[in-house]
Amino acid sequence: MQSPFLFGRTVSADEFTNRSKEMQRLKDNFTNQVNTILISPRRWGKSSLVKKVAASLHGRQTKTVMIDMMGIRNEEGFYKALATATIKATSGKVEEWIAASKQFLKNLTPKISIGSDPLQDLDISFEWKLLEKNYQEILNLPEKIAVAKNLKIIVCLDEFQNLANFDEPELFQKRLRSEWQHHTHVCYCLYGSRQHMMTELFTKQSKAFYKFGEVIFLPKIQREEWVKYIVRQFLNTKKKISPQLANEIADTVKDHSYYVQQLSHLVWIKTERVATQKILEDATVDLLEQNALLYTRDTENLSTPQFNFLKALADGITKNFSSKDIIHRYELGTSANVLKIKKALVQKELIDDSGTTIEFLDPAYERWFQKNM
Ligand SMILES: Nc1ncnc2c1ncn2[C@@H]1O[C@H](COP(=O)(O)OP(=O)(O)OP(=O)(O)O)[C@@H](O)[C@H]1O
Ligand SMILES: [Mg+2]
Repeated sequence: MQSPFLFGRTVSADEFTNRSKEMQRLKDNFTNQVNTILISPRRWGKSSLVKKVAASLHGRQTKTVMIDMMGIRNEEGFYKALATATIKATSGKVEEWIAASKQFLKNLTPKISIGSDPLQDLDISFEWKLLEKNYQEILNLPEKIAVAKNLKIIVCLDEFQNLANFDEPELFQKRLRSEWQHHTHVCYCLYGSRQHMMTELFTKQSKAFYKFGEVIFLPKIQREEWVKYIVRQFLNTKKKISPQLANEIADTVKDHSYYVQQLSHLVWIKTERVATQKILEDATVDLLEQNALLYTRDTENLSTPQFNFLKALADGITKNFSSKDIIHRYELGTSANVLKIKKALVQKELIDDSGTTIEFLDPAYERWFQKNM
């Protein structure tokens, strides 16, 4: 029987649990054309959530355009992706695609090719020279199509922070903002994992996207929900786990979405009929072993003071790192140095600094570090 737990991919149907509050909030924003920025650490469930909400709204009057910026390397690539995805999401047939490309992208004389599966492979390309001059045409494409076809369009851009790798990220952001702020039939949802980068992009006054929309920090899925979910998935596959043990699974990985699924999966595999404490212990060892390569690499890339800082964190210290005693005990240098270390570790996405307390971002790495370092 196939495992009822899924990780490493966006979840949508049976594996998607709860998030009803967040779903409602996103839905309300999208239907009221409120641009939304969704931020969380890696693998808490942003992509799954947006995909689910977008799919539920996609229909006759509302179209959703989904773009993952992960694989997009430059501005040109972005325009191409936006044009293709928008046209695909808003026109039904191949003939319509071609007509729409010609109608709405007049100044760009797009080259259109249709692949072997005409329902899937639409490829639109442009000459960079024309694009450079008329890029606005593509940025305004969703709005133009929405008006012409009497639609509402939701454009979702995943891994948005990836634009930092473009040649001129600041200029690019200004370009987007100055066109998109006039759109009244299109709503934008921008989300991504690099927490500090995303936060900076949208909350710093000097940035082009400052106050572009509502910023939502996605919380973790609640403990009770995980317990219900784990118990149910076991039952559905004719195995059993007690609520206490399910609680312990979630507790072991601090309710981190990806790891709850991974650890549940490992427990499920080892369970013939009824899950036990011993099985959970073995599964936890497996979990750390499976990720050990990654953790070793992250640890090797630390400077000595950074390593010492994590050591303090692993020992349970969560604040006052600049106090004399802690600086001395963990050889952190000076208090100015502590600030630098913190900043570097936040940038490496290893710790989360909430302002009052500091913690490991990755609960499994924390366990591994405690055990092995
Ligand atoms: N609502 C949910 N219910 C159950 N499991 C979930 C849920 N959301 C996420 N997960 C689990 O977490 C994993 C990561 O989810 P997802 O890819 O949506 O997160 P993300 O925040 O977009 O991650 P990344 O930072 O890698 O882009 C999923 O593969 C799944 O195992
Ligand atoms: Mg994602």
